[in-house]
Amino acid sequence: MKLLIINGPNLNLLGVREKTVYGNRSFEHYFEELKATYPDLELEYFQSNTEGLLIDKIHEVGFTYKGIILNAGAYTHTSIALADAIGAITTPVVEVHISNVYAREAFRHKSMIAPRCLGSICGFGLESYRLALQYFISLKPNKVGFEVKTS
Ligand code: DQA
Repeated sequence: MKLLIINGPNLNLLGVREKTVYGNRSFEHYFEELKATYPDLELEYFQSNTEGLLIDKIHEVGFTYKGIILNAGAYTHTSIALADAIGAITTPVVEVHISNVYAREAFRHKSMIAPRCLGSICGFGLESYRLALQYFISLKPNKVGFEVKTS
């Protein structure tokens, strides 16, 4: 199952940036742990600080991959272009945030991308990504090839 985790602006600085909010682990380190935990998944990771490159990546994988887990960083709150990119593709996107954006500044309470995403997970630290992964893992193909949600 091909799944792509996309991190947006400033998330390359995880482990360095505002540790009290985002923790002290780098995403690269966490990603290695995820891959080791789920060796059967074809897990990939992409990070960019540039809105257009995030959109290009969404277009590139968004018709063939099983799922995208997207932390759009601050673009979450501003980017109609990212929302349109998510709306344009067929691959489902789960929005994730490390921090609980609803417990923070008011400008973080609005997500431009949430209405285009399958669902949103926030506030569980880096575990937010693992929770999103668990959703995709829970999808099992049924006999006629459709995806069904199993409990
Ligand atoms: C974030 C929350 C955003 O508001 C912020 O701009 C980020 C990180 C999070 O993961 O908690 O860069 O997406």
